[in-house]
Amino acid sequence: MSWAPERERQRGHHDWHSATYVDEWITSDVTRDNERRPMLREMLKLAPFASDAPIEVLDIGAGYGVVSEVVLQTFPNARVTLQDYSAPMFEQSQRRLAAYADRIRYVQSDLASPAWTETTGGPFDLAVSAICIHNLREPELMASVYAGVRRVLRPDGVFLDADYVRNGGLQAHLDWLRTAGFARVVGDPKDERLAVMAAYVNAH
Ligand SMILES: C[S@@+](CC[C@H](N)C(=O)[O-])C[C@H]1O[C@@H](n2cnc3c(N)ncnc32)[C@H](O)[C@@H]1O
Repeated sequence: MSWAPERERQRGHHDWHSATYVDEWITSDVTRDNERRPMLREMLKLAPFASDAPIEVLDIGAGYGVVSEVVLQTFPNARVTLQDYSAPMFEQSQRRLAAYADRIRYVQSDLASPAWTETTGGPFDLAVSAICIHNLREPELMASVYAGVRRVLRPDGVFLDADYVRNGGLQAHLDWLRTAGFARVVGDPKDERLAVMAAYVNAH
């Protein structure tokens, strides 16, 4: 299974600030939502929280909100902060998640700047992300995002990420997470490109 549309595989770059590009990407991606949701639900089972827990959740690179939507459904008392730098993506997610308006907030920031955590709020019990952080491309930048995620989590917080790890490899991503301060990290390769990673601030 691959989560990458043919266009991405061919071009290898994105223009997340273009409304036209974002519209095209979502039109292509929405067709794979039903394929992605089961994996996202599986990923959320790695979060050690009761389903009715009133947790604070951060969705990093939230895009049009598919991960946030699964979180809001899985944890009906959760509040979710959607982080992204793309205004067109936020327009889409605001429409898509209108029914959850009282449980969500939006923060626009660029993950390439270490200051992104200053406007994010928190602390959070759970951070989630899907197919975003690989967009940073440079190992130092990806490792710096992991360090930022650690900073905004509570002492018993958890980070769950389904992303492409070919740049560096799964082991390197797990090492960057450990260096960022996560006591326990687990990686589950899903195909030759995509892995689900779970990083726990606490060792248990
Ligand atoms: C492939 S989309 C994934 C969206 C969503 N997580 C999902 O699974 O459908 C990647 C998202 O990452 C965001 N993104 C990429 N680079 C970013 C950066 N440097 N700072 C903030 N957001 C970024 C894009 O705007 C886009 O919404």
